[in-house]
Amino acid sequence: SKSEPLKVMISGAPASGKGTQCEMIVQKFGVVHISTGDLLRAEVSAGTEIGRKAKEYMNSGRLVPDEVVTAMVTARLSLKDVKEKGWLLDGYPRSSAQAETLEKLNIRPDVYIMLDVPDDILVDRCVGRRMDPSTGKIYHIKYSPPENGEIQARLVTRPDDTEEKVKSRLQIYKQNAESVLSTYLNVVKKIDGNRPKEVVFNEIDTLLSRLQKDKEESSKSG
Ligand code: AP5
Repeated sequence: SKSEPLKVMISGAPASGKGTQCEMIVQKFGVVHISTGDLLRAEVSAGTEIGRKAKEYMNSGRLVPDEVVTAMVTARLSLKDVKEKGWLLDGYPRSSAQAETLEKLNIRPDVYIMLDVPDDILVDRCVGRRMDPSTGKIYHIKYSPPENGEIQARLVTRPDDTEEKVKSRLQIYKQNAESVLSTYLNVVKKIDGNRPKEVVFNEIDTLLSRLQKDKEESSKSG
């Protein structure tokens, strides 16, 4: 029988590099990237009902109410491509209530990646972050500058990336991190995210390649 596709959760503080790593993971492993931050930002810019509910929370760096985010994620997880290609959950679950919801639905990851980056580095990364609105690609003015002037000219800054808001996002992250982690202790893999993005990816690549191989082997042996 065909082996089950990869199921991956990636967690870490604001600007720990989740989105950056996800881009590389998707390219190599073909899993479906489900980022609650990206989904919410898309709802906000499309001016939907969800977007209107989420906007103030996001702009002030607070968590959007669980029921709003959970409805969005479970809808996305139920689509056909996820079953075929596997999933990469980025930014969810972010509270113990969200983790419990997934447990009740029997949705569990093969691995729970935790990107570890010191606080002072996180602030610097957020303040220098820029996004390309036409491709969704993430840049940094110092660490990951745009390829050319045309891209540079259209880059935007996220409204929640001011120093003050980053600090409050970080505090909220710290309040929740431990209780979310406690659900996934048996599959947690902590990775030092304070290294160049290619070096971080190398470690994630090794980890996921091994996991994928194990899944193939076990599906062969029955
Ligand atoms: P979300 O978009 O998930 O924000 P976040 O968790 O704060 O994470 P970021 O997107 O800021 O950072 P990242 O880890 O992806 O880092 P990145 O790769 O961009 O959520 C936004 C908001 O939505 C929340 O505040 C909340 O309101 C709401 N929300 C989302 N999920 C929710 C949920 N489940 N429940 C309730 N509310 C929810 O990298 C950052 C910068 O660093 C970039 O400039 C990048 O180029 C650079 N960089 C990356 N890696 C490296 C490296 N290795 N070395 C140097 N620079 C690097």
